[in-house]
Amino acid sequence: MRKKIVAGNWKMHKTCAEARQLVTEVLKGLMPAAQRKARVVFCPPFTALETVCSLVAGEPEVFAGAQNCHWANHGAFTGEVAATMIKACGASYVILGHSERRQYFSETNVVLAQKVVRALEAGLAPIFCVGEPLEVREANQHKELVATQIREGLFHLTASQFAQLTIAYEPVWAIGTGKVATEEQAQEMHAFIRSLIAERYGTEIAENTTIMYGGSCKPSNAGGLFAQPDVDGGLIGGASLNAEEFLGIIHAC
Ligand code: PGA
Repeated sequence: MRKKIVAGNWKMHKTCAEARQLVTEVLKGLMPAAQRKARVVFCPPFTALETVCSLVAGEPEVFAGAQNCHWANHGAFTGEVAATMIKACGASYVILGHSERRQYFSETNVVLAQKVVRALEAGLAPIFCVGEPLEVREANQHKELVATQIREGLFHLTASQFAQLTIAYEPVWAIGTGKVATEEQAQEMHAFIRSLIAERYGTEIAENTTIMYGGSCKPSNAGGLFAQPDVDGGLIGGASLNAEEFLGIIHAC
């Protein structure tokens, strides 16, 4: 059975002290792992990653992740961070290909394909983000675009590599806008993504791949989205910055 995951993408928010406070509050409010359906992942900025890793160490089904990594393991890349360094901090996940990285930092599928391999080699589980901008959905090209992102970004992986990663479908028009995809829109795209994976890697791997939804997820809409058969949790931006809201989403899972 595939895992349900609720991951918080903090983006460029929270100092170390604020990170400590938020994670401590969330941990206090979590149900015991045996009663919880979803794995919880915190993805703070790099500066708070070690702090968060040490807070979640030993907590069952709670992990930390980074929001990006470089395509090389070391070298003259001022300002960048390697997957091996993230792993050495104690993190388990890394978000790759978030639409903000694609949009503001010109990350292409070709670059992401390399980052995914570095992350896997380092022992990190990538959370690979895909999703279409509004004009692409309006032109009814959203499935083609997402298929290209997945084929070019991931389909060079071997089956055993692919089995270690997680996908997040985040329609760009829903990120930070308050405009959430309908349950039907989410389910349709998630089922489509799963069918692509099945074609390339077979049904067993497809059925075991966690596909999270992201984009304006809140406690009030998370239950309906997560109840869809192909929606396996959420990648949460704004609502993950507040313990009560993030816990509300985790409990909705
Ligand atoms: P949001 O962001 O929940 O604030 O819409 C989601 C994301 O960017 O991962």
